[in-house]
Amino acid sequence: MSNSNWTSAEIASQKGKIILITGANSGLGLEAASVLSQKEATVIMAVRNLEKGQAAMKQVLAQNPKAQVELMQVDLSDLESIAKFSEDFHARFSRLDILLNNAGIMFPPKREVTKQGFEIQFGTNHLGHFALTGLLLDLIKKTQGARVVTQSSIAHKFNGEINFPDLNWEKSYNEMKAYSQSKLANLLFTYQLDRLFKAHKINAIATASHPGVTATNLFRSNGIVSKMSSFIGQKVSMGTLPLLRAATEPHLVGAEYFGPPGVVGFRGFPKLLKSSNKSYNINLAQELWIVSEKLTGITYTF
Ligand SMILES: NC(=O)c1ccc[n+]([C@@H]2O[C@H](COP(=O)([O-])OP(=O)(O)OC[C@H]3O[C@@H](n4cnc5c(N)ncnc54)[C@H](OP(=O)(O)O)[C@@H]3O)[C@@H](O)[C@H]2O)c1
Repeated sequence: MSNSNWTSAEIASQKGKIILITGANSGLGLEAASVLSQKEATVIMAVRNLEKGQAAMKQVLAQNPKAQVELMQVDLSDLESIAKFSEDFHARFSRLDILLNNAGIMFPPKREVTKQGFEIQFGTNHLGHFALTGLLLDLIKKTQGARVVTQSSIAHKFNGEINFPDLNWEKSYNEMKAYSQSKLANLLFTYQLDRLFKAHKINAIATASHPGVTATNLFRSNGIVSKMSSFIGQKVSMGTLPLLRAATEPHLVGAEYFGPPGVVGFRGFPKLLKSSNKSYNINLAQELWIVSEKLTGITYTF
């Protein structure tokens, strides 16, 4: 594994691969769509708003008129929309090489809920991607060397808890704790998925990334944090490198976590990191898995 500063120049041709990216109309997802289509992959940009998606796809095509890029609609805060997306995806594709579970929402100042009543950050960032991956599992299983990459955050360490007695923050709401929970859940999910791939001898791996602090639309709901992020945040092209590395670096074995290094981890080239001790806790991961299957109604069939 390279120890030097990793850039997208290291990505080999992705020709022939089908790559699905959630949150592909903005920030890190849009940049990933642009880079991976320049690397000749067929990129499916999954977006919740088709108008925004069209504008984003235009940007990708402006940079690379030959880009093989398609737009599909999914609202990750609605299990019905995810089920419909999965049907549409199955009708159009018979393989899935790389799934980038990237979409996310952060710090809504008031408690909001998804269509099915889950707290919106836990419901979108974790449960939405849990459901999506489960519904696409048959395609992942039949694609040799497939990868599922999930975007986490240094915030997974902030609270560092899965609030099992009140997963949806009905009794007391703190937007930062709820975001932290969703990002810890992203990692528990990744490592458990990778364990299950291995236990069932499936030729696929799950990896994860974090972008440090990157100036994107993510911070829009909080004025002060938004100003801070545009001041200290790194460029989107830089913040997308960990996701791209986790998605494309050859010879990964699974459960790798890439991001800017250092105690703070705000900025820098992507390195192989350790996430919090808790994120590797198997009992916690199993408990979260069971409750996620129950809440989403999606049972993984390996
Ligand atoms: N930027 C950072 O510093 C930072 C740090 C740590 C982790 N992250 C993570 O990086 C990921 C990407 O965020 P970003 O920084 O690129 O922010 P962004 O520019 O706001 O992009 C977020 C994307 O997620 C989409 N999204 C939100 N809710 C959705 C839903 N219900 N269904 C489908 N798509 C939905 C957004 O769509 P709309 O445009 O329609 O809202 C947007 O395309 C997130 O998971 C975030 O937690 C970012």
